[in-house]
Amino acid sequence: MKLQMVVAAVAAALAVGVAAAQQPIVIKFSHVVALDTPKGKAAEYFKKLAEERTKGRVKVEVYPNSSLFKDGEEMEALQLGSVQMLAPSLAKFGPLGVRDFEVFDLPYVFDDYSELHKVTAGPVGAALFKKLDSKGIVGLAYWDNGFKVMSANKPIRMPADYKGLKMRIQSSKVLGDQMKALGAIPQVMAFSEVYQSLQTGVVDGTENPPSNFYTQKMQEVQKFLALTNHGYLGYAVIANKKFWDGLPADVRTTLEGAMKDATKFANDIAKKDNDDTIEAIRKTGKTEIITLTPEQKAAMKKALVVVHKDNEARVGKETIEAVYKATDFKL
Ligand code: LMR
Repeated sequence: MKLQMVVAAVAAALAVGVAAAQQPIVIKFSHVVALDTPKGKAAEYFKKLAEERTKGRVKVEVYPNSSLFKDGEEMEALQLGSVQMLAPSLAKFGPLGVRDFEVFDLPYVFDDYSELHKVTAGPVGAALFKKLDSKGIVGLAYWDNGFKVMSANKPIRMPADYKGLKMRIQSSKVLGDQMKALGAIPQVMAFSEVYQSLQTGVVDGTENPPSNFYTQKMQEVQKFLALTNHGYLGYAVIANKKFWDGLPADVRTTLEGAMKDATKFANDIAKKDNDDTIEAIRKTGKTEIITLTPEQKAAMKKALVVVHKDNEARVGKETIEAVYKATDFKL
């Protein structure tokens, strides 16, 4: 009995010693959306896999809902190493000086997820990630959200319905031009400020996939939501390059495996999550869901595709053409 106690005490002391010698590597992972979204769930799943598979050598602290950094702050925080991982939407790389990512914002460039994946999982996606190197950032994966819908407090069916509306957008010039093409007034704003700005009338409307709309409770402050599916919103999961490259090789390999599986998870749930959310919004009875007629859809498309040519110089002709080629898109 006595001997057993001594053995247990020695084992406990050793465990404490080992733990002290091996402080876990902490990864702060900051994002701006709610937990109950495709990105929110995938970040939690990555945390679980990373911690399990590294047997606690890595601790992932996920900060959802702009609780650590918000848009306009998080990229710099990543570059400075105040946070190690982010998953900003692809529309938020312009201010960093990597405008090619705005190719994803071109209206109607992707018909569906499978077309989009031809870009993100192919050479174009890889070439875009290469452009982050010089910014001290490494691109780890593309995570899906979905196709955007438009909302406002008046019915929005035809381009003319948008005239004069102040529409909140992400920090993308392509998205600004998209709103202008509809006669609306674009306003760049951090995601964390959208609900209040809609509530107080600072802006009249916005665009996002249904899941972002619903989880920010925008149905409380927007009376109409049009299923326009006019553009895509997804994410680049990125890390501070110095941090990532400095990880022990075996840990990095394990994390890459966890990221691969978390990416599959994210991309498997995104479509259903958004489809189900449309029904959840409908059920609240607060926001009327507008399904566009084929004529209305055609009118929206006609008004918006002009944005492609107008942004050739900004986004890069080569990048746009590579995306057209991958998706078989024709203007
Ligand atoms: C937005 O700012 O509208 C979105 O990019 C938020 C997000 O990360 O999905």
